[in-house]
Amino acid sequence: MNAFEDNISHPADVLAWYLAAGVDEAVGEEPLNRYDLIKEAQAKRDAQAQAMLKEAQTQHDEQTTKAAAKPAGGPIPVRPADVGIGDEALKSAVELASEAKNLDELREALEGFDGCSLKKTAMNLVFGDGNPEAKVVLIGEAPGADEDRQGLPFVGASGQLLDKMLGSIGLDRSSVFISNTVFWRPPGNRTPNSGEIAVCLPFVERMIELIDPAILITVGGPATHSLLAQKGSVSRLRGRWFSFETPKMSHPIDATAIYHPAYLLRTPAQKRQAWGDLLGIKAKLAEHT
Ligand code: URA
Repeated sequence: MNAFEDNISHPADVLAWYLAAGVDEAVGEEPLNRYDLIKEAQAKRDAQAQAMLKEAQTQHDEQTTKAAAKPAGGPIPVRPADVGIGDEALKSAVELASEAKNLDELREALEGFDGCSLKKTAMNLVFGDGNPEAKVVLIGEAPGADEDRQGLPFVGASGQLLDKMLGSIGLDRSSVFISNTVFWRPPGNRTPNSGEIAVCLPFVERMIELIDPAILITVGGPATHSLLAQKGSVSRLRGRWFSFETPKMSHPIDATAIYHPAYLLRTPAQKRQAWGDLLGIKAKLAEHT
């Protein structure tokens, strides 16, 4: 026996000795290059990220292609037949909307309209809020839980930020009218799909025709894509002016896109750009007074 063996009284002492010497991992019979393992894991994560990006890009392209399919004579950018909305529902939406002679009649028409499946799961119709003679109309994405409960658009956290944004350029709900691309809350606050947006679009367009504002502001992606018939992200489209017109309107109106306040709550770094856009809106409004 040597001096080391003399001191070992139990196998656990051997392990303790290894541990003290920095040997804390069992090794196999074959040598293993752990740098290769790290590289393999990284490559796997890269491949997964690429696949997710590709899927998101395909979904985005499908949506924006539909949004860009603007037929001659009107700004209907989504084709309901492509997204499973029956002809009957769309025909009925167009008829009901065009018959409305004022916002009260339009609201009544929507109350009696069963062509949008979102109605089945929502508590309330969220028609709109503000001044029916406003110079500025804002169209957001879709009502959320607070809006569904109260039957009013933009009353939750993002609504409070929207009010502040409007306030910064001297506007409030007595000087604007606010609504959404769809009039009922999508379950779980998901983004409304193209079919839901398409079947509500005749009502949104009629709302804009009846109010006849000087400026239309689309708030976030879905409203921007469906009403302005533009592809791409709001970050690319904001700060620019487009024209919005329906066959029933006597003249086009100035339209622009802004970041959705929910996005700004998540990404406060973009607030600087958003406030710049608001100043652009203020200047445009001054041209109309
Ligand atoms: N987000 C919207 O786009 N609309 C609302 O009414 C509320 C939150």
